[in-house]
Amino acid sequence: MDRFIIQGGNPLKGKIPVSGAKNAILPIMAASLLAPGKSVLSNVPNLIDLKSMAHLLRIIGARVETGEGRMQIDSTDVCYCEAPYELVSKMRASIYVLGPLLARLGEARVSFPGGCAIGTRPVDLHLKAIEKLGAEVNLEHGYIHAKAKKLKGAVIHFEKSSVGATINTLMACVKASGTTELLNAAMEPEVDVTVDFLNQMGAKITGKGTAHLVIKGVDELFPVGMEMISDRIEAGTFLIAGAMSTEPVTVTNCQPEHLEELISKLRSAGCEIIIEGNEITVNPPKKIKPVDITTLPYPGFPTDLQAQFMVLMSLAEGVSVVTETIFPDRFMHVSELNRLQANISLNLNIATVKGVKELGGAEIMATDLRASAALVLAGIKAQGETIINRIYHIDRGYDRIEEKLNAAGARIVRDKV
Ligand code: EPU
Repeated sequence: MDRFIIQGGNPLKGKIPVSGAKNAILPIMAASLLAPGKSVLSNVPNLIDLKSMAHLLRIIGARVETGEGRMQIDSTDVCYCEAPYELVSKMRASIYVLGPLLARLGEARVSFPGGCAIGTRPVDLHLKAIEKLGAEVNLEHGYIHAKAKKLKGAVIHFEKSSVGATINTLMACVKASGTTELLNAAMEPEVDVTVDFLNQMGAKITGKGTAHLVIKGVDELFPVGMEMISDRIEAGTFLIAGAMSTEPVTVTNCQPEHLEELISKLRSAGCEIIIEGNEITVNPPKKIKPVDITTLPYPGFPTDLQAQFMVLMSLAEGVSVVTETIFPDRFMHVSELNRLQANISLNLNIATVKGVKELGGAEIMATDLRASAALVLAGIKAQGETIINRIYHIDRGYDRIEEKLNAAGARIVRDKV
């Protein structure tokens, strides 16, 4: 298991580029199962989660070729309908094959995803939605077994906003007979881009960018090519890193319109933010002001940036409150940040962060993807040496993070243990 050894106290400066969005590419890879033939994706980073999804698609019968930021998925021979435990237990996004397999093969068997480091994470909304479309769903021996000769359009009101359930249902219903309406659909950019991809394939989805999507079923879909959007969470992570620096940092190849809530919070913390095309420059403040955040579905503050923002608040002049409403247990980073001399206390889903003058290096452990990114930011700022164990989590969602940050002045060494 690799670990990072970080010599802290070296300020970041200059440009940091952002890669393609993991959470958009994962569902789009699954959506490509809907149409026989070759779909081609570009701006694809090198991430463990994408490799896991490619592995799953190959098990199902697709041919997947990757290299130089491109991925080609040939779904001509898709014929197996099972997502096995070994893969789903490694990557929950494997659940995304449920909708497309049901639509394409009339049957899907997907291992039931368990809990993970950020909470229990049920899939009941995915299952209720496909049942409404007419699928018969059984839970047997740890597997979700869904069957439907032909799915039928329905009106589906999600009781909670869910990115995964919205996308899975979209992929299931694009070829259903009649019209489907999704109410309280998630509005994250990853949903929008999946809608774009499906529409390019020949689907008829209207209402993009709103919580009300209307889908007119079509008989046939065709493979397409598409450039992937940039990763708003990676961009946000680098912007927060810049906010903790003493020099300006410019995040390049990003989509500022997806980052409005973070930008507003960074401005409240005292940062000057300059947006020019697809670049955002953050001029850090001399003193960081405390700012409260509450995580919410898009366009609210993203849960995937909660841990990183908490590191920034650890160095603010005063007390801030971080409320997590999406995954109430997503606080595994708190005890590790306190090992780095942060002063954070936790009461259920609310963290109170008392700003400290500086953080101090220590040996710590990464627990999940975004918590790992937060620990890297803290390590860059902490005085002395920080060792982060189990950094394989970070390779799931950040392409060469240490190279990108080192090019901007950090001193991070990957130690292959
Ligand atoms: N929920 C249910 N039932 C369901 C589905 C969701 O109760 O059937 C609840 C969840 O427990 C949570 C809320 O609904 O309280 C929202 O969860 P959502 O379904 O939106 O999350 P997800 O689709 O499982 C995606 C991202 C996560 C990100 C969340 C929230 C992917 C592959 N994952 O998860 O990303 O935190 O949306 O924005 O897109 C990450 O990249 O590190 C990550 C965890």
